[in-house]
Amino acid sequence: MEFSKVLILDFGSQVTKLIARNVRELNVYCEIVRFDISINEIIEQNPKCIILSGSPASIYDKKNPEFDKEILSLNIPILGICYGAQLLSKIFKSQVKKSKIREFGPVKLIKIKQDKILDKIPNNSISWMSHGDTIYKPGKVIDVLARSEFGSVAIFKHKAKKIYGTQFHPEVVHTSFGKKFISNFIFSISNCKNNWKPSRLIKSKTKEIQDLVKGGRAISAISGGVDSSVSSVLVANAIGTKLNSFIVDTGLMRKDEIKLILPNLKKLGVNPKVINASKIFLSRLKGVTNPEKKRKIIGKTFIELFEKEAKRTKAEFLVQGTLYPDVIESVSISGPSAVIKSHHNVGGLPKRMKLKLVEPLRDLFKDEVRVLGKSLGIEKDLISRHPFPGPGLAIRILGEINQERVKILQEADSIYINILKEKKLYDLIWQAFCVLIPIKTVGVMGDERTYENTIAIRAVNSTDGMTASWSRIPYDVLDLISSEIINSVKGINKVVFDISNKPPSTIEWE
Ligand code: XMP
Repeated sequence: MEFSKVLILDFGSQVTKLIARNVRELNVYCEIVRFDISINEIIEQNPKCIILSGSPASIYDKKNPEFDKEILSLNIPILGICYGAQLLSKIFKSQVKKSKIREFGPVKLIKIKQDKILDKIPNNSISWMSHGDTIYKPGKVIDVLARSEFGSVAIFKHKAKKIYGTQFHPEVVHTSFGKKFISNFIFSISNCKNNWKPSRLIKSKTKEIQDLVKGGRAISAISGGVDSSVSSVLVANAIGTKLNSFIVDTGLMRKDEIKLILPNLKKLGVNPKVINASKIFLSRLKGVTNPEKKRKIIGKTFIELFEKEAKRTKAEFLVQGTLYPDVIESVSISGPSAVIKSHHNVGGLPKRMKLKLVEPLRDLFKDEVRVLGKSLGIEKDLISRHPFPGPGLAIRILGEINQERVKILQEADSIYINILKEKKLYDLIWQAFCVLIPIKTVGVMGDERTYENTIAIRAVNSTDGMTASWSRIPYDVLDLISSEIINSVKGINKVVFDISNKPPSTIEWE
């Protein structure tokens, strides 16, 4: 069955991804593409409608990003958001200028004219604005459908075409009616079908993988996370024994990691070889305290092990659990963001190893991967696990890494996570873990003075790890976590709770 497709032209807004998420949540397939996509490419993709994103740019910038105006003659519904709306209104000869009052944050919407796009959206609903330029004199070909409580144009429509512009951001949660607004545009205006579901992808993905690999061999490294597990199960379904998967036991994994993932994977036809490399990793990390050095050592060691496996199995392909958010970064106009941490993604690997990539999840968001994993028969415990970084516990043991410190962290982390699960908080939190801090403090146990380590507990809410806020774990649960850890883990006499958001902090400590 044909899926309706929505194209989102990205002008570099921080929240473009949220437009995509909103559309996908309506069970409609969408893709984010560069703002300067050619008219021919658009025709080839045959979208049901097009959304123009916001942008950090102003339409008055010298080299402001613009789309191919021919698109307007395609007779495809278009929705411009913020900067996208200003581009449209400029084309329609409205006057746009720097606003006297910068509308930023929640603003009430005053409806002026009814239209299908405003169906079931009450007057005075809260919209979220963030703009410096304002459309203050609408062109003759457009109708103003709504204004902000301060009088600026909030929604307009072309008089003869299905072309709309909104000054506010319907894609952010702060716009109370945002989902309804996008749904009105997608269904009532653009007649999209809501027939896209990640689980529907199994068949087409299997074929895609078979067409790509064409009888060749592939390797896949499973980390215990959901992405590598789901992509490996998909590839194993598609190419069977031509896939050699393995789990590198770095000695820096969570407690009982391998025991947890192995049986489920085996049941699903993936039979990963466990490579015990903990000695190599720990010996190379001995005495290393610099976080970037740790990451580099781990990345390099992974590469060596992968190379060995690829050679041994004569593989031409490498399976990677790349997700859509990673792909979108590279289409953004804003260029690569500064390196905050050199994430160990296996991105550099294929170039050096001359391996071709199999990335069956590159058009999916994390929650969609979870849905797909569930339909593949992967157990809930594995699918709903929190993300875990490639370098593992190495970047959660601040300072020196050794077996004893790994063990302390594993034990504390396991107690913490189990309590979150018992208290039904685990699934509400995006990522939770312990960090071993290289500080000893004085304590008292019984009548004895202690001088032991400190553990920090971290829990964040997030959608994609790009931004995060600390999770409000109830005090009584924090109390239980603290006493369980201190009473059961030898070597810890203090537990602290991390209450920082990202930005300015990051989720991991190193
Ligand atoms: P930060 O600490 O950058 O983390 O706020 C954002 C998300 O990325 C994970 N993370 C990593 N994942 N390799 C990975 O595969 C890495 O080197 C790495 N560093 C951080 C982190 O756990 C969080 O989910």
